[in-house]
Amino acid sequence: MTQATAAATGAAATERFSTDKVVTGDTPPERVSLLARQILEAVYATIREHQVTYDEYDALKAWLIQVGADGEWPLFLDVFVEHVVEEVANANREGSKGTIEGPFYAPGAPAFATPATLPMRPDEKGTPMTFHGQVRAVDGTPLGGALVDIWHCDDEGFYAQFAPGIPEWNLRGRVTADESGHFTIRTIKPAPYQIPTDGATGAIIRAANWHAWRPAHLHLKVSAPGHQLITTQLYFPGDPHNDDDIASAVKPELMLDPKPIGDGVDVEYDFILDPAA
Ligand code: DHB
Ligand code: FE
Repeated sequence: MTQATAAATGAAATERFSTDKVVTGDTPPERVSLLARQILEAVYATIREHQVTYDEYDALKAWLIQVGADGEWPLFLDVFVEHVVEEVANANREGSKGTIEGPFYAPGAPAFATPATLPMRPDEKGTPMTFHGQVRAVDGTPLGGALVDIWHCDDEGFYAQFAPGIPEWNLRGRVTADESGHFTIRTIKPAPYQIPTDGATGAIIRAANWHAWRPAHLHLKVSAPGHQLITTQLYFPGDPHNDDDIASAVKPELMLDPKPIGDGVDVEYDFILDPAA
């Protein structure tokens, strides 16, 4: 298979972000000033505390230029910053925990009624997995017709639409639950994922002697009329990177409990949606 490169993955993620997100830019000047000032003050404090040199300042400039040239701002920000934005955004939810969306969501995946099998290649590698559960409101009411939008990487850690050589919409789908909110999705277990290391994000990870791993995960957006959409991920116990995810996106509430069945695994997870604000 064609090796996914940071350049290809980063460029695809940057292209997607620019076409899918509407960035309004309507933040009032007082707030722009407050936030920009405080971020700059944190930079000044770091320079003073650690006596940053001109060589280090020039290395930073060159690196910032390279992140843009590689199209890696979505990757870099979603790995190192998004988890705190998510924490603030979802602090007051009573229902299921959310976590970061990451850079590899693609809206408009093929739609299915439950029970569904995600689009996959005839020879798709990996452990077969059945993922099922129920979507409910915080008061326990089943949310019939809820939508479970799921995407995940393949058995080699690559995402369709972002890594080359994978059919469009592979391992991506929007599954409508039945009238009692139950859904069943057949897929394969995703592999642990190493963020692309041949671009600028990889360069800083190497320069700092960090690792580039995210534990294996399913990505989900779960929604129902009259309720808040939740963007989340689910993880597998025993993954060596559950405790040191490069993207800091693992939460104990998001751990699955896989049961072996036949040649695969069965996982169950229920989603609880908060009422619309
Ligand atoms: C990145 C990739 C992911 O699959 C994810 O969930 C979060 C971040 C990344 O490469 O930036
Ligand atoms: Fe991911």
